[in-house]
Amino acid sequence: MVEQPFIRIQDLTKYYKGSSDPAIKSITLDIFKGEIFGLLGPNGAGKTTTISILCGLFPPTEGMITINGLDIKSDLQGIKRIIGVVPQEVALYPTLTAMENLTFFGNMYNLRGKVLREKIMERLIVFGLERFAKKKVDTFSGGMKRRLNLIAGLLHEPKVLFLDEPTVGIDVQSRIVILDYLKALNKQGTTIIYTSHYMEEAENLCSRVAIIDRGSIISIGNPKELVADHPEFKNLENLFLYLTGKELRD
Ligand SMILES: Nc1ncnc2c1ncn2[C@@H]1O[C@H](COP(=O)(O)OP(=O)(O)OP(=O)(O)O)[C@@H](O)[C@H]1O
Ligand SMILES: [Mg+2]
Repeated sequence: MVEQPFIRIQDLTKYYKGSSDPAIKSITLDIFKGEIFGLLGPNGAGKTTTISILCGLFPPTEGMITINGLDIKSDLQGIKRIIGVVPQEVALYPTLTAMENLTFFGNMYNLRGKVLREKIMERLIVFGLERFAKKKVDTFSGGMKRRLNLIAGLLHEPKVLFLDEPTVGIDVQSRIVILDYLKALNKQGTTIIYTSHYMEEAENLCSRVAIIDRGSIISIGNPKELVADHPEFKNLENLFLYLTGKELRD
């Protein structure tokens, strides 16, 4: 039996208001259950636009998306119940404590009381934040904010997790904690779609990657196989630079 894609993206195009160029154009892509899928591309390539549309933040200009058999146009609420989102910009309330922030996000997913408190404490411990549970977020370092931002997106144990640059601007220690946690979640069955500018990280983490440039997919596949198909390049970063060029984008 042929495996059905868990996420089906067909001919996705987005024109932002007032722009004559599409931010993404005709993106077609199937993602399968249990994958860690990487969306890679230079600044402005269309990664955040794609993730935002997949999460139902705004509709595409054209195109179709189904997640777990649900059409995003007719069943956005059903989709929202099974997805988690970790946005590129840290989305936390700076004047609330870590605990208050996570309680707020937990409540959004109908988690309450002792169950929620236990889930929060469990994750604060994993991410080395338990000592800071009652500290306001505006006193946190960048790495602490990123770790907390991640917890907020996965408290409700989503089947699919979208992460937009979850490891940007953090130290090696924070990066390892985050990547190990994502690997463990994936082992337990969570499908992960993530964007990154770190090619080595994506090469090691992802079952498949799509390289996006100027709104279109220009290459897709298992990262190790993509590199093996181009013996003239020794790693994904070199192949990425060859495919996308050295010109600055923003
Ligand atoms: N709200 C918006 N209104 C108008 N244009 C936008 C808007 N958001 C993004 N764009 C444009 O759409 C294109 C894709 O942007 P997007 O943020 O999706 O890229 P990205 O790949 O996430 O880049 P980065 O790596 O810098 O985060 C860019 O040309 C950007 O300028
Ligand atoms: Mg982005």
